[in-house]
Formats: sequence, structure tokens, C-alpha cells
Amino acid sequence: MDKNKLFFIETWGCQMNAEDSEKLAGMLKELNYNESDNREDADLIIFNTCCVRENAELKVYGNLGVLKKLKDKNPNLIITVCGCMMQQRDMAEHIKKRFPFVDIVMGTHNTQMFPQYLKKVENERTSVVEIWDKEEGIVEGMPIHRSYDMKAFVTIMYGCNNFCTYCIVPYVRGRERSRKPEDIENEIKELVKNGYKEITLLGQNVNSYGKGLEEEINFAGLLRRLNNVEGLLRIRFMTSHPKDLTDEVIDAIAECDKVCEHIHLPVQSGSTNLLKKMNRCYTREDYITLANKIKTRIKDAAITTDIIVGFPGETEQDFDDTLNLVKKVEYDSAFTFLYSIREGTPAAEYTDQIPDDIKHKRFNRLLETVNLISEKKNKEYEGKIVEILVEGRSKHDNTKLMGRTRTGKLVNFKGSEDSIGKLINLKITKAQAFSLVGEEV
Ligand code: 5AD
Ligand code: SF4
Repeated sequence: MDKNKLFFIETWGCQMNAEDSEKLAGMLKELNYNESDNREDADLIIFNTCCVRENAELKVYGNLGVLKKLKDKNPNLIITVCGCMMQQRDMAEHIKKRFPFVDIVMGTHNTQMFPQYLKKVENERTSVVEIWDKEEGIVEGMPIHRSYDMKAFVTIMYGCNNFCTYCIVPYVRGRERSRKPEDIENEIKELVKNGYKEITLLGQNVNSYGKGLEEEINFAGLLRRLNNVEGLLRIRFMTSHPKDLTDEVIDAIAECDKVCEHIHLPVQSGSTNLLKKMNRCYTREDYITLANKIKTRIKDAAITTDIIVGFPGETEQDFDDTLNLVKKVEYDSAFTFLYSIREGTPAAEYTDQIPDDIKHKRFNRLLETVNLISEKKNKEYEGKIVEILVEGRSKHDNTKLMGRTRTGKLVNFKGSEDSIGKLINLKITKAQAFSLVGEEV
């Protein structure tokens, strides 16, 4: 009997891409491929790309260059490039021209076609370049091979309608469309049957879930419905756009016992002027009011965020407004990004781009502030008793176990393997910059 062929998938970017990669892996398992843990042994290599910032694209180019050597050594190697970067105008042709050894180029809207493309390449030794411009409806029931065995990501809506002026996502992921609640619920029930304990609901803007569906339901309604799934321990969700986070959703988070008290609420900038130029549809004051409301209504809530530094036209005052907002809101953690020009977005045309050296200086100042506050927030946990979902052995210290608090903080502790997959209470003994240390109580 033939040895099973091996695949290797490299994924860049956000959880949406990670989920697409899990679907590609699921399809490949059905075709009797096995997963390889390295590129060198693989018969099929897939690069699932991201284009949200330029450095994500540069990484793809660099890595593709390296694959040429592998293909020279093994001409039967099949190389696929897919994901958001391929949805950009003229990108597929560019990739084929610059890296002619690539066998399959496809986008984000035709993932389900992959087995057909692969068959064509295997049987005819030809290459396939196919990008669909527009999203079709939602394809349900695709096979999926999950990366973790306890927590799973479940997409509840695809695409984005917000068109923030810096962002490429609406152009490469298409318009917002929500999955039917029963499809989501059934997927989660199946996951629970298979031993999953925690799910993270995914969408570019989960708070606008439900628009356009036959059944009248919104995100708050979905949270309440999923909170009833028996055997499920925790529900997380991301990302929340501040303009759509309603009181109804805040109440649902506060009242549903399985819904964790962690809200990822990208602010992007603390300056009302820049927020307007970014098309974010809220002011600095709106955001601060919302953050305060969350803290008052949801006990011990963690708020995390995304911030862009050096958006076109950002003045020292605008930047100070951002620093100041970070101090006011006291984020548990924040992802900070240097503004990156994305061709095809409105902000790429703005003539008041910020020089790199200023961007970098501001970025470092912001990072320092963000880290100081994260540390302070972690310190607040010292001496507290918190609920942990035990995920497994710690990556850095095999003698310890690790899990996360409801607020998403990583905790390392000494304990018995029996607790893996269970909720336990721990006393936090020490706070470190990016994690906590605990002991069983
Ligand atoms: N430059 C820098 N950061 C960006 N993001 C999106 N587009 C850009 C860009 N052009 C950031 C935003 C978003 C996160 C996922 O990526 O902060 O919330
Ligand atoms: Fe991009 Fe804005 Fe949509 Fe988020 S909400 S994906 S930043 S356009």
C-alpha cells in the first residue's frame, strides 16, 4: 500500500486564517494526507497568507523564495498559496510571475474548491490560478481538522462592512454575512460531544451578528442561546467594534455564566480627530464612556485593544491623546501596530503620511506605557483566587501545568494531570510581565 502523503500548512494572520487552515487540513485528511511537522518532508506545502500590514506580505515573499530549493530537490512537491493576500488586485498574477514554481493560487472565497484544484494538479501536472472576486453564500459542513483538543474557534460571521480607512480586510474578505444560529449551535454541540470545553466565537465585528438572517437574532441573543449548551464550560468572542457594543450585549456578558469577562475592544487611536479620519464612528469620549460602563457592569472584566501608531496626519497632540487614553482605560493588554500603507484603501492616498523615525519613536513610547499598565493589572491578581480552565502542560516548563483565567490570563502552576480539561480554583502567588503563577487551593 502507498505511504500516505504529507502536508504542511504555514498560516499567517488572524484567527480567520487559522480557521481556514483547519478546514484545508480537514479536507486533506479526507484525501488521506497526513500532517507533517516540517516543510522538508512534505509532499504538499500550503502558505495561507495575510495582507493586513506590509510586513505580513514581506514574510510570504521571503518564505516563497526559500521553497524554490525544496521544489528543485523534489519536483513532485505541490506548492499552494492562498488567503487574504491573494484577493488583492493583480496579486495572483504577480505571484505566478515571480514564483513560477507555485502550483495552486487561490483566494479566500473558494477554499471549498481546494480538493478539486489539488486533483487537477496531481493528475494533469498543470497549475491552477483561481481567485473569486465575490464571496458566495456561506459553505456549511466543510470537514475541519482542529489544531487544539480542548478549545475551538467557531466563526459566527464572515467579512466586514466597516471600511475603516486604513484597513484592507473588507476588500479581501467581502461583505458581512452571518451563519444561522442553529448551524453555530449544532457545531458547538458536536464539539462538546468530542470533548471540547471552550469555544471562541469569531468575526471581524461580532456585535453586528445576525443582520440579514431570516430568524430575528442579535449577538446578545446568540450568547444567551449558546450559554444553554450543556457540557460547554466557557464562551469567548472576538472582535468587538466599539460602535456596535450595545447595553444588551454587555448585559448578556454579565449575566451568562459561561461567557467570559474579556472584551477585545480595538480603539485604534485616542484622538477624536484621527478616529474620524479612520472612519471608526465613535469619539474618544464615547469610547471612554463605554469602557467605564463595561467595568461597572461586568465585575472584574478585562479589556484588551488594538492601537495603530503613525496614522496619516497624526500630530504629537493626537499621539498624546492615545497615550492618555491608554492610561485612563488601563488595558490588560494591547496589540500595537505601526501604520502600514495598504494599497486600495483610502488612507493610502492621504498625503500627510508620517515619517518612519517618528512612527518608531512613538511606537516605543506607547509600548512602554502599555507594558507598564499590563504589569500593574497583572499585579492586581496577586493573592486572589481565580477560576482556571486547565489546558495542559506548560510549554516552557514541562513540570508545570498551564491554564487561563476567565479574563484570558495565562497561569502556570504545579498540579496533577487529572485536572486537565477541568475548571479549578487557583490562588495567584506571583504576577509576571506576561503571565501569572498560581497554586492549588
Ligand atoms: N496598518 C497597521 N495596522 C493595521 N490594522 C489593520 N490595518 C492596519 C494597517 N493598515 C490593525 C488594526 C486592527 C488589527 C487587526 O490590525 O489595529 O484592529
Ligand atoms: Fe478592518 Fe475596521 Fe473591519 Fe476591523 S472593523 S476588519 S479594522 S475595516
